[in-house]
Amino acid sequence: MFIKAAEEKDILPGGMKAVKLQGLEIVLCNFGGAFYAVERACGHANARLERGALTGWILTCPLHYAQFDIRNGEALFGPADPSLKTRGLKTWTVKTEEGSVYVDLP
Ligand code: FES
Repeated sequence: MFIKAAEEKDILPGGMKAVKLQGLEIVLCNFGGAFYAVERACGHANARLERGALTGWILTCPLHYAQFDIRNGEALFGPADPSLKTRGLKTWTVKTEEGSVYVDLP
């Protein structure tokens, strides 16, 4: 079921916004006008990912610099210390309609 999460105008291209929907902490990302939703907590040690950097479709964690593909949540790199490991991120389907961003939640 799609739930309204934000207004498109509040998340500029290259921007992110943390939202809480049905008890889930989610980060909405705008990559070139397309919106994606990933879980807010980094797969390594739960850093708040909206405080990281979004470069294209790559989201970099602010704490130890693990990198994730916002399109599918895949862990691409890091954490910077090779002795540390991360899992990928959960993602949700997103749609936009009449200027609003909706996330598909179970
Ligand atoms: S908390 Fe994100 S890389 Fe460590």
